[in-house]
Amino acid sequence: MTARISSYRPGLVDLVAGQISREIFVNNEIYQEELERVFARAWLFVGHESQIPNSGDFFVSSMGEESVILCRDRAQKVHVFLNSCRHRGMKVCRYDEGNAAVLTCPYHGWSYATDGKLVGVPYRSDGDSGFRFRERDRNDVHALYPAGPRPSPKVRAFSDYLAAELGATTPDPDRR
Ligand code: FES
Repeated sequence: MTARISSYRPGLVDLVAGQISREIFVNNEIYQEELERVFARAWLFVGHESQIPNSGDFFVSSMGEESVILCRDRAQKVHVFLNSCRHRGMKVCRYDEGNAAVLTCPYHGWSYATDGKLVGVPYRSDGDSGFRFRERDRNDVHALYPAGPRPSPKVRAFSDYLAAELGATTPDPDRR
């Protein structure tokens, strides 16, 4: 371990003195490596159960540089979605927290249920939006992207602390 650290970034870590350089906190190259090596491969804390106690409660959090929506659906299931509209990628949720039956994108008005499914597209009957809304569009094809590897995003509760994963290589916390 010592050899690996000393060859990795000479001068940044002084193991004998127990000191680290402030460069670690401001260097963009190191930050980018952390996003790739740490944030994309670890369970990330996104919120606490108490922040979304009721159906429809939502809370905007972040995973690395991704804005994510933590919400509780009508069946009390907790979801973590990327805060990005399936239409043109606009930030769907502009509030930090709240309660809503649907989350509506401010750009062209697509709306999503709290389980992430697309439930509304304005002007869908005449095709003005360029998108013909059909019953099949309520499925996952046009739902909000779940945070984490599709098709099965992992959201785990550690006691009441909620964690989610961004990468597909996140270790299984149940394996020791
Ligand atoms: S970008 Fe969200 S509705 Fe168009």
